[in-house]
Amino acid sequence: MLRITTIVGARPQFIKAAVIGRAIRERFSGKVSEYLIHTGQHYDENMSEVFFREMSIPSPDLNLQIGSGPHGETTGKMLMGIESALIANKPDLLLVYGDTNSTLAGALAASKALIPVAHVEAGLRSFNRSMPEEQNRVLTDHLSQFLFCPTQAAIDNLAHEGITHGRNGYRVFRTGDVMLDASLFYREQVAQRSNSIIKDLDLSGDFFLLTMHRAENTDDPVRLRAIWEGITRSDMQGVFPVHPRTRKVIEQLGLKPSRNLKLIEPVGYHDMIELESTCSFIVTDSGGVQKEAFFFGKPCITLRDQTEWVETVEAGWNVLVGANSDVIGAAMKRPLAPAERPLLYGDGHAGEQIVETILSAI
Ligand code: UD1
Ligand code: UDP
Repeated sequence: MLRITTIVGARPQFIKAAVIGRAIRERFSGKVSEYLIHTGQHYDENMSEVFFREMSIPSPDLNLQIGSGPHGETTGKMLMGIESALIANKPDLLLVYGDTNSTLAGALAASKALIPVAHVEAGLRSFNRSMPEEQNRVLTDHLSQFLFCPTQAAIDNLAHEGITHGRNGYRVFRTGDVMLDASLFYREQVAQRSNSIIKDLDLSGDFFLLTMHRAENTDDPVRLRAIWEGITRSDMQGVFPVHPRTRKVIEQLGLKPSRNLKLIEPVGYHDMIELESTCSFIVTDSGGVQKEAFFFGKPCITLRDQTEWVETVEAGWNVLVGANSDVIGAAMKRPLAPAERPLLYGDGHAGEQIVETILSAI
């Protein structure tokens, strides 16, 4: 029996871990077991618990309940908590996802304890080292033994940093993206359900979906005001599930939404899928939501100067508008309309492929 410890802490990690956890339970039970540690980085009901419930993720075996705080302090506390659990449980492998502080804490704790690290969503780069996510990704990749890359661009990025398959114990695999697996699996559940957020919000006709939480936008009032001005120029109805970090800043700066923009609490994954698959286009600074726009065939306007998901831009489905109000306003008037949607993120079975690869390689 291969014993894996998985670290999650933030919203996108619950979604990614749901895919691999389900693969382990349904396809590899008896061969692989999973011990789930929640760092507690996200803790509001609609930032954490809702995903466990809707996506049938088993309750964490351990919740470190670290909560919010400065990066060093929270990452340090996570490191201590994860290290104790690793010493007690001695797993064969530690699995981490993405690029949050929880990811880095997990990778560092395991690496010091000489436990192999598997990184899902390895090799992504924005080449902007001022982003906490970029720091976390680079460090985590260099600490990992198994690097599961969703795209060829990710494989190439790792190669430029000297991380290639077989070198210095690195094992690099292109597996596709577990978020595609999630969107395909859970869209079926959404199609079957009786409730509807579109009805609850009384939405009829065209609307755009907005999400925004990146520190580079929320923590820079000049940037945030410019983005706000660009977005609120649109006459179309908009729905904006507001991340708690963004809600605080909107209140502090006294930003007023336009009449046609509905600010709502963060939604669960089912509601999010319904919104993404029904809207006309998406405006976001989220990594995951840029990809989901592509999965659901919706043009994406990205409120950033760089993206890790370069293929969506190259394929004509995503445009980077930074924080320039005129560019944002113009992009929202004429969303992209590409003719084709290439297969960029695998075949929807990345989760199973990752577990299979670990089993055969360890
Ligand atoms: C984190 C990740 C980011 C990821 C995002 C997903 C890091 C450095 N950043 O950003 O990469 O894209 O999660 O959503 O790890 N808060 C609450 N309730 C919660 C969670 C957060 O009120 O349940 C508020 C707190 O005021 C907190 C702030 O949001 O200080 C930021 O939370 P934090 O986890 O530090 O960063 P995110 O912006 O969520
Ligand atoms: N998401 C959600 N509800 C929301 C906003 C986002 O379920 O109110 C989902 C979204 O569909 C995607 C993931 O959360 O699967 C993305 O997380 P987020 O944008 O917080 O982080 P990032 O991907 O930028 O790290």
